[in-house]
Amino acid sequence: MNNLKFSIIGAGNMGSAIAEGFLKTGAIKPANIWITDLRVEALDHFKAKGVNTGSNNKEAVAFADVLIIAVKPYLVKTILDEIKPQIAHSRQILISIAAGISISDIEATTGKLPIFRAIPNTAIAIQESMTCIADANANQEQKDLVMSVFNLLGKAALIPEDMMNAATVIGSCETAYILRFIRATVEGGVEIGFKPDLAQLIVSQTVLGAAKLLLTTNSHPEVEIDKVCTPKGITIVGLNEMEHAGFSSSVMKGIEAAYSVFKK
Ligand SMILES: NC(=O)c1ccc[n+]([C@@H]2O[C@H](COP(=O)([O-])OP(=O)(O)OC[C@H]3O[C@@H](n4cnc5c(N)ncnc54)[C@H](OP(=O)(O)O)[C@@H]3O)[C@@H](O)[C@H]2O)c1
Repeated sequence: MNNLKFSIIGAGNMGSAIAEGFLKTGAIKPANIWITDLRVEALDHFKAKGVNTGSNNKEAVAFADVLIIAVKPYLVKTILDEIKPQIAHSRQILISIAAGISISDIEATTGKLPIFRAIPNTAIAIQESMTCIADANANQEQKDLVMSVFNLLGKAALIPEDMMNAATVIGSCETAYILRFIRATVEGGVEIGFKPDLAQLIVSQTVLGAAKLLLTTNSHPEVEIDKVCTPKGITIVGLNEMEHAGFSSSVMKGIEAAYSVFKK
């Protein structure tokens, strides 16, 4: 990966976070990264670190072995039309992170080349994303390469393309759902006597710990819940009260409602 060249089109939330992750991990040299944006001032920070920057997407495409499209979904077709003449189909890999844009949508403009759709989440900014990836026309070496790129930025899973919308809901929108849960717990913590800052620290570290318990032990959530719920104890009283108010049901309904938006 050390000698591969990466170009990122779009230095917004996601494009910047990916470039930042490349720099922080040290796996990709600044000189091997190119990032573009129409607002060149958004690129100053990267320029100062030795990254190639500018607003010329064609130059960036000509430079790249791996091309990452990180603009809003409605701009993907415009960008692809613009850069199509520069795409070297025989040697380049294209990765789009645009939600809802299919590989066939991309291929309709670019023609055949190894194409990946990746759905990260905003924790990519701290190299803790969950990124779901689908591919077309890629060989094993190219799949391994793209997986290792996103494993640098958190964890990555290769999934069938028809699961990408579902992955967007539980892997990307989920960040907001978890954060709302944290916020609600903090509000509860304030009501029972904590200042918000301390409540937020306690709750955030507890959520992190709960997730790490599952990730490191591969345990089932209910097994871990049973360990916390003493018979007649306070945890089960709180948990059952939340369930009476529709906790699990409302989360599942929210996931289904978000997914249904893709069908409209
Ligand atoms: N945010 C998430 O949680 C998330 C998760 C998974 C996937 N995604 C996907 O990631 C993509 C980017 O999202 P984002 O939140 O990073 O959007 P964003 O902050 O708007 O970033 C896109 C950037 O591209 C720039 N841009 C627009 N036209 C350009 C052009 N012709 N050449 C170069 N740069 C151009 C924009 O500049 P201007 O602002 O000046 O237009 C903006 O800085 C979207 O397709 C989204 O679906 C987002």
